[in-house]
Amino acid sequence: MTQAQSVIAGPLTGRPTAESRPGQHIKAPHYLTAHYWWAYVHPRAVWVFERQWLVNLILWGNYVRLRDAAMADLGDVLPGTTLQVACVYGDLTAGLTRRVAAGGGRLDVVDVLPMQLENLRRKLPSGAPARLLSMDSADLRLADASYDRALLFFLLHEQPASHRARTLSEVFRVVRPGGEIVIVDYALPRWWHPLRYLWRPLLATLEPFALDLWRHEIAHWLPAAARNGLHKQSFFGGLYQKVVIRR
Ligand SMILES: C[S@@+](CC[C@H](N)C(=O)[O-])C[C@H]1O[C@@H](n2cnc3c(N)ncnc32)[C@H](O)[C@@H]1O
Repeated sequence: MTQAQSVIAGPLTGRPTAESRPGQHIKAPHYLTAHYWWAYVHPRAVWVFERQWLVNLILWGNYVRLRDAAMADLGDVLPGTTLQVACVYGDLTAGLTRRVAAGGGRLDVVDVLPMQLENLRRKLPSGAPARLLSMDSADLRLADASYDRALLFFLLHEQPASHRARTLSEVFRVVRPGGEIVIVDYALPRWWHPLRYLWRPLLATLEPFALDLWRHEIAHWLPAAARNGLHKQSFFGGLYQKVVIRR
């Protein structure tokens, strides 16, 4: 697929903008409105959750560690094009933008909810080299091989399997051969981890697709060609994982 005309491209200078074409609305996927309305869709969601200490609490104190683990793989200086698939509460994207700016590169952040892009726009400094694009991760209106690297931070566990597989296939398509894909998300904790037993019922209730990542490796949803060159690192007794794919 080549870049579609409907793709929203923002200015590369000035304050980053959450862009959309008049009359063009990306429909929020059903799983978001049905299961994640409280976290992202409700008008008060940003007000409640845009607090790094709270996201850190939800991640059992691991936000900074996981954020920095992702950054460590991407690098301190990021020239070229970087794609962040889905907004994240906290300061992850601001940090990513600084690295992109240091490298003279450009960051594109896609999200399906305008409210989340608008929140991100407020968090980024004026002049940040970032475009905020309204898109579904499973249908990226972006050109093949147009990014040097991509980051997915706690997105995949929210998605039903078919959406997850399409997201990974799209990310694989838009990252160039030789580029890097960094994924941070849940995984199956070790047998001795108390949260393996205590966290499971809560996750199953609040985040109904998250336990998929306990049952399968991320490779399970990757296109076959992406399964080589994959490196996995576990954190916090296995409850979290970072997967780095060399495209
Ligand atoms: C990355 S995830 C989880 C982040 C994590 N809970 C945190 O904030 O630290 C949350 C974001 O994913 C976005 N999102 C979910 N499904 C999406 C999809 N199919 N396409 C694009 N964005 C999506 C939501 O709108 C939300 O902004």
